[in-house]
Amino acid sequence: MDSILVRGGSELNGQIPIAGAKNACLPLMPATLLSEEPLTLTNAPRLSDIRTMTELLQSLGAEITSLQDGHVLAMSCHGDINTHADYDIVRKMRASNLVLGPLLAREGHAEVSLPGGCAIGARPMDIHTDGLTQMGAEIDLRDGYLHAKAQGGRLKGAVIDFPFASVGATENIMLAATLAKGTTVINNAAREPEIIDLARCLRAMGAHIDGDGTSTIAIEGVDRLHGATHPVVADRIELGTYMLAPAICGGEVELLGGKLELVGAFCEKLDAAGIEVTETARGLKVKRRNGRVSAVDVTTEPFPGFPTDLQAQMMALLCTADGTSVLEEKIFENRFMHAPELIRMGAKIDVQGGQATVTGVEKLKGAPVMATDLRASVSLILAGLAAEGETKVSRVYHLDRGYEHVVAKLRGVGANIERIKES
Ligand code: UD1
Repeated sequence: MDSILVRGGSELNGQIPIAGAKNACLPLMPATLLSEEPLTLTNAPRLSDIRTMTELLQSLGAEITSLQDGHVLAMSCHGDINTHADYDIVRKMRASNLVLGPLLAREGHAEVSLPGGCAIGARPMDIHTDGLTQMGAEIDLRDGYLHAKAQGGRLKGAVIDFPFASVGATENIMLAATLAKGTTVINNAAREPEIIDLARCLRAMGAHIDGDGTSTIAIEGVDRLHGATHPVVADRIELGTYMLAPAICGGEVELLGGKLELVGAFCEKLDAAGIEVTETARGLKVKRRNGRVSAVDVTTEPFPGFPTDLQAQMMALLCTADGTSVLEEKIFENRFMHAPELIRMGAKIDVQGGQATVTGVEKLKGAPVMATDLRASVSLILAGLAAEGETKVSRVYHLDRGYEHVVAKLRGVGANIERIKES
């Protein structure tokens, strides 16, 4: 298993290009199941999660060609397809559950294994399955698989009230509703930029969707969708992560392709901590206003609130802030696994349930640490960049799920970081 070695202390200066969003690309890819015609995604990120979704869709009968070094995915799914999404692939990634809605919409039935994913909480699928049930699906859980069947062979429109604005459930229902009979309304829908991106792509394929980006999305089903070419939106989590790099280390970094509208609540917290973010012609520029950053309190919330996927990285920043910060995690119940690792680097963190109190120290100290999930891994790299001495982050396969070329991107702005290949 590879590890990453970071030697802290360098200021960071230069530019970092931001990739297409993993969390947009993953729900966009299963849209290929909705049409007999080709769907091409441009600006796709090169990540192991994207390869897992490719493998899953291929196992269902989709043809997928990766072009331009993986940044273009040419997909096509015509003729007969397989409706069995196997445990061996699905277990690698929770977002595999996004094939359930499209398979049901296209074939009227599907057998999809319950997924795995990051170990950051229970992450059930009840909001997905309740919504599909309201659309006329009968769903049983047997042998670890969801066996789903649309009554009468086709899903029908329904008014669905989500108990929580689940991102994945909003996407699954949107995908399924494009080909259902009648109109589906999702109340308390998720409002993330990745939802808007999915709606844009589905509209380009001929779907009738209104209200994406608000809490009420209406989808009027059509009989068929056609092909399209769609550019994947920029990755706001990668953007926020690299915005934190000069905030932690000093220096000034421009994030190419970054947009303020993707990181509004996050930027408000950076501003309160003493970090300056300015828009440029090509993206966003970030630097510390002066000296040490200030403590700020952070609560994670669905978009447009502070993203849970940036909580670990923000904690790395606040470990060296002047004062005490309280981070409250409201989305996942078990998402402070990076805290014990940061403590090994000299951080002062007290976790009580869903709340972490961080008292800033002048300097972190390098240490061997272990990545526990995707966003935790990168928070340890950020902490290592700010620490005195050497930090070795092991189990970095988590990182490969969500960050492309992390070592090259950080070296490009002057970080002392390398990947160590281990068998
Ligand atoms: C997506 C993102 C993930 C991000 C999360 C929250 C992708 C591929 N992943 O995950 O990076 O951290 O949004 O912004 O886009 N829940 C239920 N029942 C359900 C579905 C969800 O109880 O049927 C709960 C989950 O356990 C969790 C919360 O709702 O506590 C948020 O989940 P959800 O918004 O669905 O996240 P994902 O789509 O899995």
